[in-house]
Amino acid sequence: MIGKLNHVGVATPSIGASVAMYRDVLGATSFSDRFAMPEQGVWVCFVNLPNSQIELIEPYGDASPITAFLEKNPKGGQHHVCFEVPDIIEARDAMRAKGATVLGTGEPRIGAHGVPVIFLHPKDMGGVLVELMAEPKASH
Ligand code: CO
Repeated sequence: MIGKLNHVGVATPSIGASVAMYRDVLGATSFSDRFAMPEQGVWVCFVNLPNSQIELIEPYGDASPITAFLEKNPKGGQHHVCFEVPDIIEARDAMRAKGATVLGTGEPRIGAHGVPVIFLHPKDMGGVLVELMAEPKASH
């Protein structure tokens, strides 16, 4: 059911510092602008790789959902993986039917790529927070 690995989410206390590391140490050359997603409580910046992206996320505001993660992992760390699915509602219902726990209300929200996303609780996913996103229209 899952398709392409769209991105790996990496929480960081500083997108600026992470961009510098990906650029200066790992040699990445393509980055999106940093932008805010206030409803999700995060700043986002994408590191563009030949086959995928790293989604750098930094807390935005006082009630950010990644604040607790950064308290446990002060330097940041791998936060979630995101797979593309052809139909987000079909995927959500199938995941529920198979016993996975959809976070929040289960109603897809618009993610950083402008398409609907849901998150699956790590307890049913081998310890990994899984994001499912509708395939972007101009999928590469
Ligand atoms: Co993500």
